[in-house]
Amino acid sequence: MKDLTRRQFGRSVAAAAALAGISVPRFAFSQSGPAGHDADHDSGRRFPEGFLWGCATASYQIEGGVKEGGRGPSVWDVFSHTPGTTHNGDTGDVADDSYHLYKEDVQLLKNLGAQTYRMSISWPRIFPEGKGQPNAAGLDYYNRVIDELLAKNITPYVTLFHWDLPAALKGGWQSRATSLAYADYAACIARQLSDRVKHFMTTNEFSCFTDLGYQEGRFAPGLKLGPKDVNQVRHHGILAHGLGVQAIRANAKGPVEVGLAENATVCVPVIETEEHIGAAQRATRLMNAPFLTALMEGKYIDEYLAQTGANAPRVEPGDFAAIGSPLDFVGVNIYTPTYIRASDSKFGYAVETLPASYPHMASPWIVIGPECLYWGIRNVCDLWRPKAMYITENGCSSDDVLTPEGQVNDIDRVMYLRNHITHLHRAAAEGYPIKGYFLWSLLDNFEWGDGYSKRFGIHYVDYKTLKRYPKLSAEWYREVIRRNEVV
Ligand code: NOJ
Repeated sequence: MKDLTRRQFGRSVAAAAALAGISVPRFAFSQSGPAGHDADHDSGRRFPEGFLWGCATASYQIEGGVKEGGRGPSVWDVFSHTPGTTHNGDTGDVADDSYHLYKEDVQLLKNLGAQTYRMSISWPRIFPEGKGQPNAAGLDYYNRVIDELLAKNITPYVTLFHWDLPAALKGGWQSRATSLAYADYAACIARQLSDRVKHFMTTNEFSCFTDLGYQEGRFAPGLKLGPKDVNQVRHHGILAHGLGVQAIRANAKGPVEVGLAENATVCVPVIETEEHIGAAQRATRLMNAPFLTALMEGKYIDEYLAQTGANAPRVEPGDFAAIGSPLDFVGVNIYTPTYIRASDSKFGYAVETLPASYPHMASPWIVIGPECLYWGIRNVCDLWRPKAMYITENGCSSDDVLTPEGQVNDIDRVMYLRNHITHLHRAAAEGYPIKGYFLWSLLDNFEWGDGYSKRFGIHYVDYKTLKRYPKLSAEWYREVIRRNEVV
C-alpha cells in the first residue's frame, strides 16, 4: 500500500512466506544476528512502536449489579428473564460482578501490561428511563472505573452502546425517537467523561442488535419482523451512530477521537490472485451495504436500494449528513472469515460454502481462518482509506477446564490468537494504518444467548466464587505485549 523500506519489505516477505508455508532464502529478509528476543533483535514479527495492546469487555456481560446504583432495566434484562431465550435461563444479574470487583479487573489488565481497555457504558445506568435527567450514581460508577484505569496508566476506549438498550424506550430501535435519545445520551457522556476519555466508539456490531434482535429473534428484544421493518430498524441503528458522532464532537471538552466497533463481514479471497482479491473487495462493499458501506460512503449504494426495493428504509433529509460523518478511526470486530471467489454471477463473486470437516472453535460459528485479520483491514483500507483502524475485538471460546491447581491450559485459544495476530502483523508490516488490538475478552462473561456456556476470557471466572484465574493465554498475551511481537 505504501512505499516500504527494505527492512519492512523484508519483514513482510518473510511473514507472507511463512504464512504461505513457502521457504524463502534467509538472505532475502534476514538482517538479524543470532536468534533471541533482546530489544535489538528483529524477529521479523515485531509490531510498529506505539502499537496498542488491550482487552475488551461490555457492560451487560461483566457488570452484574443490575438493580444497583439506580440502574434501570435494559432489553437484555427483560429478554434473559424470559423463559427459553438463553442457554440454561442464564442472565446478566450477577455476571462477573465487575460492578463491585472492577478494581480487581483493572489489576488483571495491569498484570498483562495492557496499555488500553475497551469497555462499554450501560445506557440504563446513566438514564434509567432511557432519557431525562442523568443518574448521578451511574455516572459515579464509571468515573471510578475510569479513574482506576488512568491511575494504572491504562487508556480507556469507551463504547457507548453495546446492546443494553434501556427497556423504557418505547418501540426500541423500531422508533426513530430512540436514535434521538441516543444522541442525547452520547452528548451527556461526552460532557461528563471527555476530560479523561479521549476515544469513543458509538455502537457495537449493528447486525447483532438489529437483525438478530428484530429479524431472527435470537437476541433482545426477540422479535421476528418483516424486511421493511427490519431495514428501518437498521437505519435507526446507523442514524444513532451518526447523530452520536456529531453529539460527541459537539460536547467534548477537548480533542477526542470517535469511531465505532463494527462486525463487518470479512471477505477473504479464496486464493490470493488478482481476480479473487477483486471479488473479495466487491463482496466487502456489497455484503456490508446497510452498515459500514453506508457510513463510509454516506449513502445507501444503488445495489442495496435495488435489492430492498419497496422495503427500502425511510430516510429523512439530513440523515446521511450525520451517518456519513468522517470518522477518526474504524474499529472492526473480527472472529471469522467469509471465503470469496471470483465468478460470473451478477456482482462477480460467489461465497464459498464450507465442507463439514472445516474446523471451528468451541462456538461453531467461529470457523478458523486467521487471514481474516489481514483481509478485514486491507479491504476496508483499500475501499475507503480510513485515517486509522483498530481491531476492536478478536478472540474465541474454548472448552476450558480449571485444574485442581487452579490452571487452565487453553492451548487451543493460544493457537487461535497466535495465528490471528500473525496475520495482523502482516497488515501492519505492509503499512496499513492499524493502531491497536483489543482481545475479546479480558475475562469469561455472559455470552448473550449462550449464557455462561461459552468462555471467551483469557482469565477464567469461577461463577460460584467469582474468583478470576489467569489462563495460559493470559500468560502468552502478556509476553506478546511485553515484546510487542508475535510469540
Ligand atoms: C461480539 C460481541 O461484541 C461480544 O459482545 C461477544 O461476546 C463476542 N463477539 C463473542 O461472541
